[in-house]
Amino acid sequence: MIDISKRAIDLENKYGAHNYHPLPVVLSKGEGIYVWDVEGKKYFDYLSAYSAVNQGHCHPKIISCLSDQAKKLTLTSRAFYNDTLGEYEKFITEYFKYDKVLPMNTGVEGGETANKIARKWGYEVKGIEENKAKIIFVNGNFWGRTLAAISTSDDPLSYKGFGPYMPGYETIPYNDLDALEKSFKDKNVCAFMVEPIQGEAGVVVPEEGYLSGIRTLCDKYNVLFIADEVQTGIGRTGKMLATDYEDARPDILILGKALSGGVLPVSAVLADDEIMMCIRPGEHGSTFGGNPLACVVAKSALEVVKDENLVGNALLRGNQFRDRLKNLSNESELVKKVRGKGLLNAIVIDDDEDSSTAWNICMKMKDNGLIAKPTHGNIIRFAPPLVISESEVDESCEIIEQSIKEFSKSN
Ligand SMILES: Cc1ncc(COP(=O)(O)O)c(C=O)c1O
Repeated sequence: MIDISKRAIDLENKYGAHNYHPLPVVLSKGEGIYVWDVEGKKYFDYLSAYSAVNQGHCHPKIISCLSDQAKKLTLTSRAFYNDTLGEYEKFITEYFKYDKVLPMNTGVEGGETANKIARKWGYEVKGIEENKAKIIFVNGNFWGRTLAAISTSDDPLSYKGFGPYMPGYETIPYNDLDALEKSFKDKNVCAFMVEPIQGEAGVVVPEEGYLSGIRTLCDKYNVLFIADEVQTGIGRTGKMLATDYEDARPDILILGKALSGGVLPVSAVLADDEIMMCIRPGEHGSTFGGNPLACVVAKSALEVVKDENLVGNALLRGNQFRDRLKNLSNESELVKKVRGKGLLNAIVIDDDEDSSTAWNICMKMKDNGLIAKPTHGNIIRFAPPLVISESEVDESCEIIEQSIKEFSKSN
């Protein structure tokens, strides 16, 4: 490996905690759908920082807002008012059609916030006896790494060795409305939290009718529907929200990642007054939540999504991508399945979860100029920035096809 890359990797290995297993590529520049490594080699970015860079790397409009605001005011905390937060709150609530927003930073904080709001609503509005509230989750969920998040996880890599776990959670199978209805019969259930498409689990798309079925059951049993759209939201799946595919407006919506175009950690929880007003001063917050820099960046990142019609582009380019890769799966025995919506897609490799096949294919793709990452061993997620063009999808599919063919030949 070339010296500059080797040095960067060695430094991370020596001085950083070993809580990730990155692909050996050291990036130093990004623009639109491309990134460059320290040796100057260019790659298609097919991860988009786990769907945080929907608007493309270093989008000029977002960066310009960031830079202008950075020279004026970056952080005041919520001890005082500032001149950007209210404007942003008006903008984002009108954009997503909710009464109120609660700004946070990371996606997992958005999830924690949603859980707290739902519990509070459960006690104050639904009338659940104190400390008895339950939130239902599904198998395969992923919403971050805090103790609450791992307490809902069924992935031993996430939870094992970190107990004791948070009480008040129950998990049921994904994509199973019968199981959901059964769980709702417990009068202590205040909420059901779910990703409309499971990202980290390997881009698992539920059957049509699942999302609207959740909405119907939540109404029937007076349970809040919390949609974790941290990964699926903001155009990624070919609609502004993945829940827009059906008649399935969530009671509580969690956004993160692309809310800042990948520029800063910015998350948001949206809900109507009856729910959000259960939280009162002093009961929740964050030093950085709603900071001026985040407010202008998020407003600009959301404007870019509409101005550049990224939702429509994600839908078209996603169809193009899956059509092309479905042809490949007919030809190659290695590709068992192609699935996804919009530009959140994955291929399932015909091998077990513990094999290194998907990793080795990612290494081949890297050598050929495209970076992506396996999730769950035998699944490769493909999620480029939503600004990708038709010819760029073709060009990148050629790299994927060629890499899989080369891999098949060499094994
Ligand atoms: C669906 C979903 N929710 C929440 C999170 C957590 O976001 P963050 O890493 O910003 O805390 C993720 C991260 O991948 C996610 O995919």
